Amino acid sequence: MIGRDALVRAFPGIEKISDQRQRALVFDVWRHVSERNPAWSDVARIPLHPSMPIPTHGNLVKHVDAMVRVVETLVPLERELWDQRLDLDLFRTAAYVHDAAKVIEFTERDGAIEALPGYNHAIEAGRIVREVGGSEQLAHMCEAHSFTGPLVVPKTREAQLFLLLDPICLNVFPEQGPGVVQRHLKANAREEPRTLQTYRSPL
Ligand SMILES: [Fe+2]
Repeated sequence: MIGRDALVRAFPGIEKISDQRQRALVFDVWRHVSERNPAWSDVARIPLHPSMPIPTHGNLVKHVDAMVRVVETLVPLERELWDQRLDLDLFRTAAYVHDAAKVIEFTERDGAIEALPGYNHAIEAGRIVREVGGSEQLAHMCEAHSFTGPLVVPKTREAQLFLLLDPICLNVFPEQGPGVVQRHLKANAREEPRTLQTYRSPL
């Protein structure tokens, strides 16, 4: 079981969410997923995916930390350049909860981590956010955040930006095996397009 203290130790930045309701929602979502699968106790042991070992790709905590740091840069930038007024608390909250359903998706059996076949952690995160009383805006950011599995097309600027940020914050590159773009194409049953650029590439 991942308790509140363990969560704050893994993600001290949760305390920086100034909106009390959104901060509470982070704990509510993690409590929900931990009750569904109490086997996880150490957040740092959760990988990005069973096919992405932590020693090579880093853990889920680093991915979330990266998302938070990028949104802290992005939100003021959007305001300064295009007068897009985005809610930093909303983006921070989304970063902390969008992958929480991986606690349910991943199980450990005989020392190996497995993913539940057919489970969509993004759509499930959106459903959980609604269930614990989160906003529709946040729920949609969560359900549309991933290129893994059938794509949920973002309907808001917040969801669009959040979807595009997610793969930037992954230490998953072609030099290490299938990169994020290749993985995402495969997850959507699409092969790598045979473009002229691919043909010319010396890599
Ligand atoms: Fe993510």
